[in-house]
Amino acid sequence: MAVSLATRAELDVVLSLAGRTADPAPQPVPVRSGGFGGVDGLIRYLRDEAIDLLIDATHPFAARISANAARAADQCDATAFALRRSAWVPVEGDDWLPVHSVSQAIAALGAAPLRVFLATGRREAHQANAAPQHHYWVRSVDPVEPPLTVPHVSYIHSRGPFRLADELDMLQHHRIEVVVAKNSGGDATYGKIEAARQLGIKVIMVERAETAGLPVVETVEAALDRIDHFVSSLMNRGV
Ligand SMILES: NC(=O)c1ccc[n+]([C@@H]2O[C@H](COP(=O)([O-])OP(=O)(O)OC[C@H]3O[C@@H](n4cnc5c(N)ncnc54)[C@H](OP(=O)(O)O)[C@@H]3O)[C@@H](O)[C@H]2O)c1
Repeated sequence: MAVSLATRAELDVVLSLAGRTADPAPQPVPVRSGGFGGVDGLIRYLRDEAIDLLIDATHPFAARISANAARAADQCDATAFALRRSAWVPVEGDDWLPVHSVSQAIAALGAAPLRVFLATGRREAHQANAAPQHHYWVRSVDPVEPPLTVPHVSYIHSRGPFRLADELDMLQHHRIEVVVAKNSGGDATYGKIEAARQLGIKVIMVERAETAGLPVVETVEAALDRIDHFVSSLMNRGV
């Protein structure tokens, strides 16, 4: 989205990051970082910066900021929409167990010790402490802090996108028996799902909660169409 908007001379774009990643990937547009201070803070920001259009392009599991964005846009009477890629759906050969939270996923691993690839992000990795009988391989961009208390854990620090071939190697190398993943959608992290299918590995899939709020588009192309429409409506009004 940022790459597509960076070359649009008629737009002043600012990309907002939560500020959780120590060394975020470089961006082709100006970046601000850190929470706004809840809905009220976001409303203040939108007003102070005279923002015309708010795009919620956060991760599908970032529920709080999405709810805040919808409420702030509503209260400011600002134009807003969400860019939310569609969820993955199981295909022939997939062995998925759908659950509704990371804690449910950990419980669903069962009593017998398993070799588990935990790909749910570092913030929720600590849920694994509830089932210390398993050996976990936890992948995240930044270190898990504090570390897990389970006796068998290995940390993999890397940033996507992840290629299928590398995911196949990783799952085989560690002799992973089950993958725990969030249904994030998109291509960048789908490699592990495809690799699990090819290797006959079960995936415990944390599904998304329903979100109400902003109108949603699922692709960058659809978002750009919406932006074009918005810009031309402003121009027609002589703004
Ligand atoms: N959840 C995931 O699985 C996941 C995965 C990959 C990337 N991410 C990204 O990591 C960020 C944090 O995710 P989360 O699940 O912790 O979010 P969250 O629970 O929805 O939001 C928690 C708080 O973080 C701040 N925040 C979140 N996104 C922000 C943004 N883009 N700009 C400024 N402040 C932001 C807000 O603080 P204030 O209330 O103070 O404004 C928000 O209330 C999101 O931007 C998300 O896109 C999340």
